[in-house]
Order: sequence, then C-alpha cells, then structure tokens
Amino acid sequence: MSLFRKKSLSSLLSQASDSEKGLKRTLGSGSLIALGIGAIIGAGLFVRTAAAAGGHAGPAVTLSFVIAAIGCAFAGLCYAEFASMIPIAGSAYTYAYTTMGELVAWIIGWALILEYALGAATVSIAWSEFLNKLLGGAIPYEWTHSPFQRALDANGVMHHGILNAPALFILLVLSLLLIKGTQESAIVNSIIVIIKVAIVVAFILIGWQFINPDNHNPYLIPADAKPGILPDGTEYSYTDTFRHGWGGVLRGAAIVFFAFIGFDAVSTAAQEAKNPKRDMPIGILGSLVICTILYILFSWVLTGVAPYTDFVREGREASVAYAIETYMKNYHWLATAVTVGILAGFSSVILVMLMGQSRVFYSMANDGLLPKVFSELHPKFRTPYKSNALLFLFVGAFATLIPGDITGDLTSIGTLLAFVLVCLGIIIMRKTDPNTPRPFKTPLVPLVPILGILVCSAMIISLDNMTLSSALAWMVLGLIIYFMYGKNHSKLKNQ
Ligand code: ALA
Repeated sequence: MSLFRKKSLSSLLSQASDSEKGLKRTLGSGSLIALGIGAIIGAGLFVRTAAAAGGHAGPAVTLSFVIAAIGCAFAGLCYAEFASMIPIAGSAYTYAYTTMGELVAWIIGWALILEYALGAATVSIAWSEFLNKLLGGAIPYEWTHSPFQRALDANGVMHHGILNAPALFILLVLSLLLIKGTQESAIVNSIIVIIKVAIVVAFILIGWQFINPDNHNPYLIPADAKPGILPDGTEYSYTDTFRHGWGGVLRGAAIVFFAFIGFDAVSTAAQEAKNPKRDMPIGILGSLVICTILYILFSWVLTGVAPYTDFVREGREASVAYAIETYMKNYHWLATAVTVGILAGFSSVILVMLMGQSRVFYSMANDGLLPKVFSELHPKFRTPYKSNALLFLFVGAFATLIPGDITGDLTSIGTLLAFVLVCLGIIIMRKTDPNTPRPFKTPLVPLVPILGILVCSAMIISLDNMTLSSALAWMVLGLIIYFMYGKNHSKLKNQ
C-alpha cells in the first residue's frame, strides 16, 4: 500500500553518496562524538532538574533520572540496531523510511520537530535565564519572559512578560553561524564539552560539603506537603497524583528525560565505528551510563544544598547559580564560573539541535515530503540556508512567546513518541526483514523493545493534560499536512 511504500536500502545509499556532493561533510568521527556529548548535557540538567524536583519529585528526582535513563537505554539498544542496519548518517526518520515505510517515517519526522526545534527553543529560554543571572537581573522581567508569565517583585509589584529577547538573540547568532558552516563550531564544541563536564563535577565535589541532610528528608514528596508559592504569588498544591510520591517521581522522569535527549546523535557517529557490533552499544550505552551517574550525583547535591520547595519560586530560574549563591557561602566565584560555562554549554546544545532539525528537514524535503525550500543549499557555504532561516523564525516564535516549562515538556513528549516508534520498529523489522544483515542486534527482542515502549509510554502518560493535548494536536496537524502535501509530492510515489 502506498502509505507504507519504503525506500530501498540501495537507493538510500546512493542518495547518501549524492548528498556527499551536496552538503559539505566537514565533521570527522571524533567531532561527531563530541557533538553527541555536546547535545546531552544542557538545560535538562541545569534547569529542568529543579523544575522536576520543585514541582513533582522532590529529592527523589534522583530516581526520576534512573527511570528516564532506563527508558533511554532500552530505546538506545533499538537505535543501535537501526543505525547498524542502515549504515549511513541518519536520524530515526531515515531509519523508518527504509524499514517501516513513508507514513511512519513522516510521523517520526514530525515528532522529531518537537524534539529538535522545541528543544532548541527550551534551551534558548534557559540561556536567557542564566544570562540575566550573570547580568544581575539587569534585563527587565518583561523582556526576558513570555506573555504567559507573570511574577511579583520584592516590592509586591506584578510584572507581566512581553517577550523573551535574549532567547531570540542567541537563536539568531547561532542560526547565522550554521548558515555560514559548521567546521569552526565543531572545534569550539569540543572545548565546550570539556567545560560542561568540568562544571558538573565541580558542583558535585564542592556542593557535597554543603548538603543539609534535612533537605533529603522526606525523600519523596508527601501527599500532604504544604503548598508551594509560585512567582506570581498563587499557591502550588502537591495533591495531584503526579505531584507527590511515586507519581511525582514518574512525572519528574518525563521532565528530566529532556536531559538525555541527544544521545541518539551518538548512533550517527557510531556508523563510522570499525567494529559496530562492539562499538555501537559501547558508544550509546557508555555515554548514557556516564551521564546518568553524573546526573544522579548532581541532582542529589542540588536537592541537598537547597530545599526542593525553593525551586517553586525563588530558585525556579537559573537554579544552579541560585543554589550556589544562596547556600554555598564564599563560593560566589563558582556561581559566576558555572553561569559562564553554562551559557557556552547551552549554546552548543542549541547549535546541535538546530543542525539536527535542518538535517531532518533536508532529508524530508529531498524525499519530497516537504517543499524544496528546505533542501536548497547556499551557493557558497553549501548549507541549507533557507531552511535555517525558516527554522529560526519557527523556533524563535516559540522561544520568545512560550514559557520554557511548556516547550520543555513538549520536547520530552515528542522524543518519547519517536522512541516508542523506534522500539516498535525493531519488533516489526525482525518479522518483515529477518534476513537484512544486522551488525548489531538488539538483545532479547521482543523483551527489550517492549520494555522500552512501556517505560517511555509511562513517562508520556504522566505528563499533564495540556502537554498531551498539544502534542496530539501537533501530530494531527502533521497527518493533515502529509495527506494534503507529502503523500502526493513524495519522490518515491513519483518515481
Ligand atoms: N539534553 C539536552 C539538554 O539537556 C537537550 O539540554
């Protein structure tokens, strides 16, 4: 049936060598691995951890990280099989097109827009928080927040957000950098990766001495916890199922899941591995394990240094800098150093996400599912500049107008959805294409993919109704566009 028409592996491979003549391939495997790690540690850890702890999981946000990591590990094993079967650089979209057909590929590609584009928006909003922290709050509330946000200042005056100008600024700078080309950014990225890991380790080591055991007790938020106070002065109740106890831990997992997004980029790099059978799982799972350990220690220290209730109001923004300044006396220099490092670190994450998104757009446009404008290359820079410019407008609109909590949760849900489909894909593929060579095989199929589907779906279900209905509306919009445009313009159909 036409909806399930598949791209053959051989046409994909020849298209890949064609695109070698098109897109300038400047990244070596080392740079690509650095690019992967560059995408992993970012706003998820430095901003979403506090949101998850303050609103849902309390100190047990450490357990949220464990749940999110388990979901990622199962999905990661499935990613590795796809990546090794289809030995060209690609995303879940590309894998799905050859294996599960056009409609599923489109659905995954459409979900990936939530991952990459809204992910970039979320991190740029976090960037804006830390910039303003560094500037001592010099930029007025109105120009650093979305119109949907408001807050009382110390004098009891209510401020309403207008738009988030710094978020737009950083997106503009990085979009221009992408249009010019990525070679320079890859070198800078490797340095930034080192800085990011150094910040996390420094905070863990120094912060450890400032842990107040009372802050870890009780470990899970009790159902009768005293309501918190939000920035606008209203109460935040913990009675909802997903705001205390294990329900809260699960919702926390869906929120901090954001911190793991980007590890799938490693699968792209792993395609250049000499021994995919061994290197692929080591690359993907190794980076996951290292990040998980760092994340658990980091969140243990963060919720030990500051009580989780602080993260509902005062410590809601730029939470790490807040915790150091408020509770770690004599370490102001650390707050400043961490903030500067984080600004650089976030920039690399935004860059990788914008690049990932424009590559997915590029592939989709090459396949005829999106208009050609998304695959047109700049005559001199050989970058998809029109796509980058349109993407800037799209991501910029979200970053300036929508609060980071909302874009963050939408990023999580989009990625979780793509992961569920990738896991499902492995089960289907083993039945439909049992003979295609697989240098790396996901172990214990169907158990591992089924567990991946269950853990990721549980995280999806725990998200709030608004996130769920917005994501549903996004996916329905995607289907309408596919049936009105992509289905008819598909290159595969017209071949
Ligand atoms: N994992 C990336 C971050 O946390 C998206 O910013």
